[in-house]
Amino acid sequence: MVNYKDLGLVNTKDMFAKAVKGGYAIPAFNFNNMEQLQAIIMAAAETKSPVILQVSKGARNYANQTLLRYMAEGAVAYAKELGWEKPQICLHLDHGDSFELCKSCVDMGFSSVMIDGSSLPYDENVALTKKVCDYAHQHDVTVEGELGVLAGVEDEVASEESHYTKPEEVIDFTSKTGVDSLAISIGTSHGAYKFKPEQCTRDPKTGKLVPPPLAFDVLAEIEKKLPGFPIVLHGSSSVPQDEVDTINKFGGKLPDAVGIPEEQLRQAAKSAVCKINIDSDSRLAMTAAIRQTFAEKPGEFDPRKYLGPARDNMKKMYMHKIINVLGSDGKAC
Ligand code: G3H
Ligand code: 13P
Ligand code: ZN
Repeated sequence: MVNYKDLGLVNTKDMFAKAVKGGYAIPAFNFNNMEQLQAIIMAAAETKSPVILQVSKGARNYANQTLLRYMAEGAVAYAKELGWEKPQICLHLDHGDSFELCKSCVDMGFSSVMIDGSSLPYDENVALTKKVCDYAHQHDVTVEGELGVLAGVEDEVASEESHYTKPEEVIDFTSKTGVDSLAISIGTSHGAYKFKPEQCTRDPKTGKLVPPPLAFDVLAEIEKKLPGFPIVLHGSSSVPQDEVDTINKFGGKLPDAVGIPEEQLRQAAKSAVCKINIDSDSRLAMTAAIRQTFAEKPGEFDPRKYLGPARDNMKKMYMHKIINVLGSDGKAC
């Protein structure tokens, strides 16, 4: 049993309380490899932003759970080395799908876990989420639950269409389970194809797809029911057009990829939304830089020569999100 406090990590309690009060959101960035982690920590340290490092079940399978845990521990030391005296770094399980997985993460030093019971019947979601909260809270680990289903793929939870969170369920769910934060569905979804072209309109000037707006009315109703309660938005990548264009220019094929416009995320961050999940934008930034290097320097075969530019590009993207979209810079001095 490892306690996260011994690793220099923090849970989400203070982060979220301050973010809700301050009208900004904490970035939750997924990582699967060293370059992503370096870029996240460099960006957070440089901007003094609290940050949530997210590990999905897929990341655990890809990179090994033990290695990822030690990498997060190393990230705290690295942040200090970069001059961030009091790093506020949370290690969070993203889309946990069973009590056993959540327990294993709590036991190995995670400071926060998500139990995603959103695909279960309501009562089963309540029972599973409560079981995870009861265990995690004994170790001061915070828990995120989810109500409502996002379109697309939630790890192994496939859903054809999104089912918005029902505001009439949120008080019952949070009080019965004891969750510390609640992920909701208001029209975001995972991946780089968040909307089908037929759900969008086309900008007559650029010909690019313009997605439908998020359901801010549902968010407002939820906030009214749960004043000041930390709300989480998954599927919040913006799918930057310049990265998509670079990928397509250098041999990729991402037709009609579309994300959540940043203006809408800015609006969400000012509300009770205090955690915004971003993974796909990092994948795009990494892929764009690697494709460009491969195309422009075909003789290069030292991985540092293409992973280095990929890391720089991801860092630039993370800093942009922190400063220009979420507003979390300077909140962890
Ligand atoms: O919500 C899903 C995250 O983007 C993690 O994706 O399961 O492919 O690691 P993954
Ligand atoms: P994106 O696919 O929009 O980056 O969402 C990531 C996410 O929600 C991780 O849980
Ligand atoms: Zn998610």
